[in-house]
Amino acid sequence: MPFPLYAPLPETLERAAELARRYGLELVATPPDAGYWLALTATRLELAAAEGHGAVVADFVEGAARHRREFGGGRGQPVAKAVGLKGGAMPSVVDATAGLGRDAFVLASLGCTVTLIERSPVAAALVDDALLRASSDAGTAPIAARMTLVHADAAEWLLTLAEADRPDVVYLDPMFPDTGKSAAAKKDMKAFQSVIGDDLDADRLLVAAMAVAKKRVVVKRPRLGAPLSGVPRTGELPGKSTRFDLYAPKKPA
Ligand SMILES: C[S@@+](CC[C@H](N)C(=O)[O-])C[C@H]1O[C@@H](n2cnc3c(N)ncnc32)[C@H](O)[C@@H]1O
Repeated sequence: MPFPLYAPLPETLERAAELARRYGLELVATPPDAGYWLALTATRLELAAAEGHGAVVADFVEGAARHRREFGGGRGQPVAKAVGLKGGAMPSVVDATAGLGRDAFVLASLGCTVTLIERSPVAAALVDDALLRASSDAGTAPIAARMTLVHADAAEWLLTLAEADRPDVVYLDPMFPDTGKSAAAKKDMKAFQSVIGDDLDADRLLVAAMAVAKKRVVVKRPRLGAPLSGVPRTGELPGKSTRFDLYAPKKPA
């Protein structure tokens, strides 16, 4: 069933129709009585829930993204090291699990060209909206210009890439199955998680990523989480709450 999109304001109807067409959403005249829906307000697209929680939004301009852009530790932060940002190196990156685009935005703000692949219509629409807003803000427009969103299953999309389009790095951050220890996870992020579901096919995505990356594949995991299975790691970079597992490409540049 298509995911509902509620856009009550006449001035947002054209944009709502565009989002509905692009991501296969269903425009609804009233918000559903139960469950989740996307709501287009005068200023942004939000994931809303009948039982209520803080709005889930993808945002590159304000809040945490702004703080990290201004004070985030630049190339010294673990995600930058994980993709190999050192010296003059500026790898091209495919973020094959874009989610709300937070990691991709960090990498793009450090100068990487990032292609974001997202299969969930909900997450893809939220990132589409964040990119639109970031493109019209002077502080983030040059960063947004380095980010391209593709709504597709990355395991399939990666294997369609021509030799000349192979990225240096494929970055993966699959949804980790809920271990029951995530009581601290915020209510809004739990809502996002329950709409998206667990990414139980991440091992298959890793195989596709290794076939395509020229320099390395990076997989973000919870600090104590098990690595993806089936392929030996070539390294790991521990962070405070996360860990970055590194894999060598099957067919280097
Ligand atoms: C944990 S979230 C990623 C969060 C992201 N790193 C961020 O910074 O916001 C995982 C996302 O990957 C997406 N995903 C998982 N497997 C995918 C695949 N094969 N192709 C495209 N998207 C995928 C899920 O739909 C989900 O939105």
